This record gives sequence, structure tokens and C-alpha cells, in this order.
Amino acid sequence: MKVLVDRRDGLSAAADVVVSGAYERPEKDDSFPRTLDKEDEASKGLLRAAWGRREIRGKFGELTTIHRPEGRGRMLLVGLGPRAKFGPEIVRRAAAVAVRGVKGRGARTLAFRLSSFVAEGVTSDTAARALTDGATLGGYEFLKYKTRSEGTVEETTIHLGEEHGREEAAIKKAVGEQTEIDDTVVWTRDIANLPADTATPERLAEEARALGKELGLKVTVFDETKLAEMHCGGILAVGSGSAHPPRLIILEYAGGAKRGKTVAVVGKGITFDSGGISIKPAPAMANMKFDKSGAVAVLGILRAAATLKVPPRVIGVMACAENLPGGSAYRPGDIVRTYNGKAIEVLNTDAEGRVVLSDALGYVVGQYKPDEVIDLATLTGAEVVALGDDTAGLVSTDDKLAQGLLQASAVTGEPLWRMPLTDYHRELVKSETADVRNSTEIPVAGMLTAAAFLETFVGPTTPWAHLDIAGPAYTTLTTKKYQPAYQNYGATAFGVRLITRYLMDSGRS
Ligand code: BES
Ligand code: ZN
Ligand code: ZN
Repeated sequence: MKVLVDRRDGLSAAADVVVSGAYERPEKDDSFPRTLDKEDEASKGLLRAAWGRREIRGKFGELTTIHRPEGRGRMLLVGLGPRAKFGPEIVRRAAAVAVRGVKGRGARTLAFRLSSFVAEGVTSDTAARALTDGATLGGYEFLKYKTRSEGTVEETTIHLGEEHGREEAAIKKAVGEQTEIDDTVVWTRDIANLPADTATPERLAEEARALGKELGLKVTVFDETKLAEMHCGGILAVGSGSAHPPRLIILEYAGGAKRGKTVAVVGKGITFDSGGISIKPAPAMANMKFDKSGAVAVLGILRAAATLKVPPRVIGVMACAENLPGGSAYRPGDIVRTYNGKAIEVLNTDAEGRVVLSDALGYVVGQYKPDEVIDLATLTGAEVVALGDDTAGLVSTDDKLAQGLLQASAVTGEPLWRMPLTDYHRELVKSETADVRNSTEIPVAGMLTAAAFLETFVGPTTPWAHLDIAGPAYTTLTTKKYQPAYQNYGATAFGVRLITRYLMDSGRS
């Protein structure tokens, strides 16, 4: 999707559809909103008449099409809901509803009238960024395997009009930056949506190499031979049941600031999670090609970091393996030794994410001594039960890092909720025969015992944040109707906007 900024008023533009936002009409107040005066004028009174008939209520997501007289195209009113609840997230969602609403209905170009999305607490550049997110992400579809598709909006223009014409430079900058980020989200979704027969660990390594070449990042890929030399017994064990061998992929972005900090971003990249020998029942396996979402998000984060030249140095780590129950698969009872020497007792081969991450975390902490480590992983079903499909669980040993991430989350609208990590959880992952066990004896606090396991491999001194993205990483046909319109079916690339925002703001105090 192309997003442009135009100084003129949207109503004088030649776009196929001109979109304006309308708040929910207050009860017992039938007066026509003055904010829609210009739209009414352009409709030659049709809009006011529709309002008078109570045809338009302004309920969130409600769409009203007004065909302008003299064949001058369509106006689309998108309901914003009550004014008291208005904010950037409403703009993001409304823009997506508009783009999706005209899909397949002869609309190639869309014009947003910015002024109708600006209000107290939502500045013009915030609104413009949110429109960019909503239009780009809402318009996204994974079309690689579709031989036919309905025409969608190809170009969106944000029109400033006389209300915001003077802010053109600032808005152009904001939209330019946001477009870069959203293009990366789309790019990330395209990879995360690939099925497991195609998106093998080696294919993800190829994607990383290609990205490194394009953006001048240093990329290192450790294959199974190298991983054995490095004593990465965790990732090797998880990948041993598959014909597609594991890969540990490292991407390095040097950083935009002179003496900036080093942030390591580590992702779980299980290209398919069958559960292994502890095999999942068929319904639970259905979406397990998305178990690579953390690692693919890391790829996207590195792409955005390098494109936008964020201040910190960023080390991306993708821990990629396929978890299948082949003849050489690892089994319950196995004890594996990982990169940093710690041994894992495997009690459930379906708790494989933490096993691949043990090597990835141990390696990046040992090798790069980063100032901060952030990991993203579709780690536990317990996360989905606790927080739902929209929110990621945040566990952190560092309040400053956690605060920074929560602030970024408030900006991007990717919900995070911080959860505790205590000695109770640490106790539960202690093993009788090894340093840690990968599954607990009693089924409690699954998201947090998984975090306690990971903490063992980060160590006590490196500030660390763990994002369990099992819920928000993808949208299913069932969960789709409860999600915002910009999280269409399939991979969401959750975390890319969030961590990119965090990195952009890092280094600023
Ligand atoms: N990939 C799954 C977690 C998951 C579940 C992600 C649902 C997205 C949706 C993970 O590898 C897993 O299977 N975890 C187990 C751990 C258990 C065996 C300790 C789980 O959560 O059941
Ligand atoms: Zn699993
Ligand atoms: Zn998994």
C-alpha cells in the first residue's frame, strides 16, 4: 500500500473514495455535527438528510456510503464510536475498517480527511501515523497462494486541508517513518504466513542472508554441524526429528548512535510444532506453522532497525528448528547439554520453545554481553488462557526495560501485560537429575514457569524481558471477529512495531 500526504482538502481530490470519521451521536441530540459541514456541502445536503433520518449513528465501525451528486465519486463515513473513548487505536481500527469495507468494490484509491480524525489528545501526526497503520495493515492479505483475488485499495492519501496544511512537513515525516515500519510489518507477515514445507529453518536463514545483503547487516548462520561443535544440544535435540535441520541465525546491526547500548532480540523459530513425541492432538496442531512468529518478528525488527537507523546496536537471534516426531527425535527423559553448559531434563517434547531458546540466549549473552535482552516467543498455551488472543505476556527482571516496553506498547497499540516471576516459579523448574526441567510436575502458572526456565539461560545480571506472544502472534478464522480489522486472518507480526518503537526511543532519556 502506498500512503501519501496531500496538502489539499480530500473533498477536492480525485480519489475513488473519500473517508471521514463520525463520532457516535449523543442520545437526544439530533443536531448535525459541525465537523461534517464540509462533507455535507460536498454532498449537496445528502449527508445532512441521512443524518436527519437517523441513518447514521456513528457506532464504531459503522460504514455509510454517500454517492456524491454529479458523479463525483463516493464519500465514506466511518463510525468512530463515542467521543469519550476516542484515541489513536480507534483511528487505527477505523482506517482498517474503511479499507476492508471497500475491498472488491472498485476502490483503488482512498483519501482520508485528516481533520476528522484529530481531536484533543490525538495530534495530527499521531492521527496520520494511526491512519497509515490502519490502512496498510488493514489492507494486508496473504495472496501468495491465491490465483484470483478481489481488488483492494492500492493507494491511500492523507489530506490535510486548511486545518492542517501548515503542519505538512511534520506530518510528511511521521507518515514516511510509519510507512517504513508498516511495510516491514507486511514483509514480516508474508514470511510468517508461509507454510512449514516452504519456511524451513534453512529458508529462514536464506531470508536473513538476503536481508543482510540488502541492508548491510552482518549475518551468521550456524548449521547442524557447527551447532554440534558449539555444544548447542538444545536446538539440535528439538530439530533432530525433522529432515530439515535446525539453524541458529545471528543478524547484527551496528547502531546509529556513537556509543549506544547493545540490545539483543531473540526469537523462537519453530517452523512447525507437532509437539514431537509428546504429540499434540490434531486441533491443537492446526496453526503451528505460526510457531516461528517470534523469530520472524526478529527478522522484521532488524529490517526496521536498519532502515530507520535506530540508535542502539541490535543483535538479532533466530532459533529455528522443526519439532517433529521422527525416528531420531528427542524424547521425554532425555537430558541435553546446552551452549552455556547447563543441562536440561526433557519431560515433554512439546515444551520445545524454551529448549531452542536456551542455546540462543546462552549464546548471545555469552558472546555479545548485551546491555539488554528481549525475547519473543509463541511459548505457552497458558499465555493464551491467561491474557487472550490480543495481549502478550511480559516478564522482566528489569523495571526500566519493562517500563520502556510498556510505553512503546501504549504508542503502537500492541497490548502487553506484565506478569510476576518469583522464586515459586523458579522452584517449579528445578530438576532432580539436571539443572532445569522443561515441564513442571504440577500444571500451574505455565507462562511463568516457562519464563523461569528461560531466566536460567540469561543469568541474573543481564536486564531481560520475555514476551510470550502465543496469543497475539496470529489470528484464526474464529478469533478474527474479536480482533481489530488490521489483524486480518493469519500472522500479525506482533512485536515488530512495538520493539521498533522501543528501539527508536532508546537512547533518548
Ligand atoms: N507452541 C506451543 C505454545 C502455543 C500454544 C502457541 C498455543 C500458540 C498457541 C508450545 O511449544 C507448547 O506446546 N507449549 C506447551 C508447554 C507444555 C507442554 C509445558 C503448552 O503450552 O501446552
Ligand atoms: Zn510445543
Ligand atoms: Zn512451540
